[in-house]
Amino acid sequence: MLVQADIFMEKTIDESKQGESLILEAKQDNHRKLFIESYGCAMNFSDSEIVASILSDQGFNTTQNLEDADLVLVNTCSIRDKAEQTVRKRLEKYNAVKRINPKMKVGVLGCMAERLKTKFLEEEKIVDLVVGPDAYKDLPNLLAEVDEGRDAINVILSKEETYGDISPVRLNSNGVTAFVSITRGCDNMCTFCVVPFTRGRERSRDPQSIIEEVNDLWNKGFKEITLLGQNVDSYLWYGGGLKKDFSKASDLQKATAVNFAQLLELCAKAQPKMRIRFSTSNPQDLTLDVIETMAKFDNICKHIHLPVQSGSNRILKEMNRLHTREEYFDLIDNIKRILPECAISQDLIAGFPTETEQDHQDTLSLMEYVKYNFGYMFTYSERPGTMAERKMEDDVPEDVKKRRLAEIVQLQREHSEIKTKEYLNTTVEVLIERESKKSNTEWSGRTSQNIVAVFPKEDYKIGDLVYVDVKDCTSATLIGNAIGYSKDN
Ligand code: SAH
Ligand code: F3S
Repeated sequence: MLVQADIFMEKTIDESKQGESLILEAKQDNHRKLFIESYGCAMNFSDSEIVASILSDQGFNTTQNLEDADLVLVNTCSIRDKAEQTVRKRLEKYNAVKRINPKMKVGVLGCMAERLKTKFLEEEKIVDLVVGPDAYKDLPNLLAEVDEGRDAINVILSKEETYGDISPVRLNSNGVTAFVSITRGCDNMCTFCVVPFTRGRERSRDPQSIIEEVNDLWNKGFKEITLLGQNVDSYLWYGGGLKKDFSKASDLQKATAVNFAQLLELCAKAQPKMRIRFSTSNPQDLTLDVIETMAKFDNICKHIHLPVQSGSNRILKEMNRLHTREEYFDLIDNIKRILPECAISQDLIAGFPTETEQDHQDTLSLMEYVKYNFGYMFTYSERPGTMAERKMEDDVPEDVKKRRLAEIVQLQREHSEIKTKEYLNTTVEVLIERESKKSNTEWSGRTSQNIVAVFPKEDYKIGDLVYVDVKDCTSATLIGNAIGYSKDN
């Protein structure tokens, strides 16, 4: 189901993959076993592929068996309290396994590592290694320390690191879709959000290395990529490092700068048959250029994930979201005008501090205006160190948050159903990704709009791009029959 209530899941990740261990093609000379699992956003899954690549050169092959592991790594998420609790529970499980396999070492990666730092080593006796999101290249040194019996930690954030020079190993892959990281960190400082503290300053990756990765993926048979960043629309390559002030830049530097619309175009042209998606867009940074570039290229998927968080101007301001409800509507109008077939999805938070019933009604009326195809909805979770935690009281009672969330989820369900039904008796183009979860005689794939479609397998195979006649649907899934290969297959 695409409508997700306050659960531990981020948008681009298939729910069934949360926490799943990763498989890496074995190198014969490697004798140590790594069990690595990831929680949270797509970026964490992508980062684990970088980590597995770094450790592959250190003698590690991955295993799916926790009991066999010499090294267990968990890539963690801090976005909501619930996400952190899930990781704490996993540590208990590792503890039980360590009693049987005392030589096993345990490392914590990602946002919780960055947030808790040495506290992790103090609070969780099982943990031997703590590594923040910008320090993965230091893993060989840190592991050497751990091998000598010492705890090891590196949580230094970088202004430059993009891992652009590391070729990620594609783990847990269907061989069809892949993530390509293009920016790291976030400079936006939304007052509820822990990401700027755990992932540091925003930096963009060299476009050349991005295009090389896209070409390499195509040559390996991949058919769809998702360009990833906390805020992809603020991508700006300017020779690396932090974004610079254009007003002080020389003309030469300006001429060589690459923004997100230009990067999209470069990717779309480099592989005209590769489907291209991107996530996530912040409304304040999504420009008309990007929407127009999407319109220009068939292979750029017609879906924009456009988190709004709240429909109330007062709350948007308290959240430090740098746009108003009216500006958001203008953006939605522009998307609908330039890209009438584009799907739009949201993230929403219920019960931000000081949120009144009227603010909540504003959120519902904003949803009515946009009629999102799907969305990810959460109750507000206070995060230590954020502006909201320091300056505001978490004053909306839990039961009120939950009731407002339920109303938001219910409305989204109704809208999803309306939007999904629009495809009834039409023909859609679907990229086949995997077997349907409900039936082993059916394929499951997604349309350009990111809507899931299921249909009988016949002689089609994973990776085929096919036309599907839509005969039926649930609120989030199209059901039909394939009628042939797409002209672009
Ligand atoms: N730009 C990021 C956003 C990361 S957080 C991206 O790439 O998706 C994903 C979503 O989690 C946010 O859009 C927001 O809706 C939700 N979220 C973030 N902090 C939260 C908090 N403290 N409580 C509840 N939800 C939160
Ligand atoms: Fe978080 Fe806002 Fe950045 S939600 S990731 S601070 S755009």
